[in-house]
Amino acid sequence: MEQTMRNFFLFLSKNRALTKMAKQYGLRFGAGRFVAGESIDQAVNTIKQLNEKGLVVTIDYLGEFVDNEAEANEMTNQCIEAIRAIGREKLQSQLSLKATSMGLDMSEELVVRNMKRILDAAKEEGVFVTIDMEDYERCEKTLQLFKKLKSEYDNIGTVIQAYLYRTVEDMNDLDSYAPNLRLVKGAYKEPATVAFPNKVDVDENFKRIIKMHLLNGHYTAIATHDDAMIEYTKRLVEEHDIPRDQFEFQMLYGIRVERQLELSKEGYKMRVYVPYGTDWYGYFMRRLAERPANVAFVAKGMVRK
Ligand code: FDA
Repeated sequence: MEQTMRNFFLFLSKNRALTKMAKQYGLRFGAGRFVAGESIDQAVNTIKQLNEKGLVVTIDYLGEFVDNEAEANEMTNQCIEAIRAIGREKLQSQLSLKATSMGLDMSEELVVRNMKRILDAAKEEGVFVTIDMEDYERCEKTLQLFKKLKSEYDNIGTVIQAYLYRTVEDMNDLDSYAPNLRLVKGAYKEPATVAFPNKVDVDENFKRIIKMHLLNGHYTAIATHDDAMIEYTKRLVEEHDIPRDQFEFQMLYGIRVERQLELSKEGYKMRVYVPYGTDWYGYFMRRLAERPANVAFVAKGMVRK
C-alpha cells in the first residue's frame, strides 16, 4: 500500500499540466508546510527566523521542466537574486539548484554559462552552491558538469544518492576532487535495473558512503530525517575522532523541526533546505511520496480549508 502511494505521488510529480496549473493558483493543499513562500522576501524572512534559532540554511528557487533558453536564463537570474539577498541580509545560507533548471537538458554550453554566472556571483558574496541530484537519466551529465566546474570553482558541491548501484564507483571517481558532498537516500522513482528496490539495501549503502566520505577526510553533509542514520553518523565520528567542522546534518524545511533544533543544541551543524517560488508542485508531490503521514497532514489541511 505504502509503495503504491509512493509510486502514485512520484507519478503525479512528473505531470507537466498539473505543474503548470499549480503555478497559477498559489501555494495550496498544505504545501506551505514544506515551501517557505512564493517570493524571495518571504524566503528571506523564513531564513532569518531559522538563523535566529541557530539553524543554517540552503535556499532553493523551485523550478521544474525548464525546457527553453529564456526560462533557463530567468531561473539563473532568480538564483543570482537569491545570492545577492543572502549577501545583503547577511544570512547564514548556501544555495541549492537543479542543473536542469539552468539548461542541462538543452546544451552544455548553456548550462555551463548559466552555472558560471551563478558561481561568480556566489563567490563575490561568499556563498556555497550545491547542485542537487535529479533522476538517473541526468546523473552522469550532472556529475560531468560538477567535475568541470569544480576544477575552476571551490564554492561548489553536489549530491550523491545511496539508492543507485553506481554510487560507490562515483564516489571513488570523485575522490580526487576532494568534493564537499551531500549524501542522500534518493527521491526519484527508479527501476531495479539502476537502483536498489529494497529500503534495507539503500540504508546499508547510505551508511557505507557516509563512512567512505568521512574517512576519506572530505566534508560531508548527511541529509536525512532518519534517526538510525543520524545515530550511525554520531557513533562513527566519535569512534574515528572526526571533527565537527568536517560534517553537518541537513533536513528539509518543515520536516522534523524539533529534531533539527535538538541536533543544533547538541552542537552539531544543522542545515535546513528551504525551497521557495511559484513552482512548488513537483517538490511537494515528492515530499508526499516520501511519507504517508505527510499525506494525512495535508488531507487534514484540505478539510479545514
Ligand atoms: P526515510 O524516508 O527512509 O525515512 C526513514 C525514517 O526517518 C522514517 O521511518 C522516520 O522514522 C523518519 N522520518 C522520515 N520523514 C519523517 C517525517 N516527515 N517526520 C518524522 N519522521 C520522519 N534527494 C535526491 O534525490 N536529490 C537531492 O538532491 C536531494 N536533496 C536533499 C536535500 C536534503 C537537505 C534532504 C533532507 C533530502 C534530500 N533529498 C534529495 C531527498 C532524499 O533523497 C530522501 O528522499 C528524503 O530525505 C527521505 O529519506 P530519509 O533519509 O529522510 O529517510
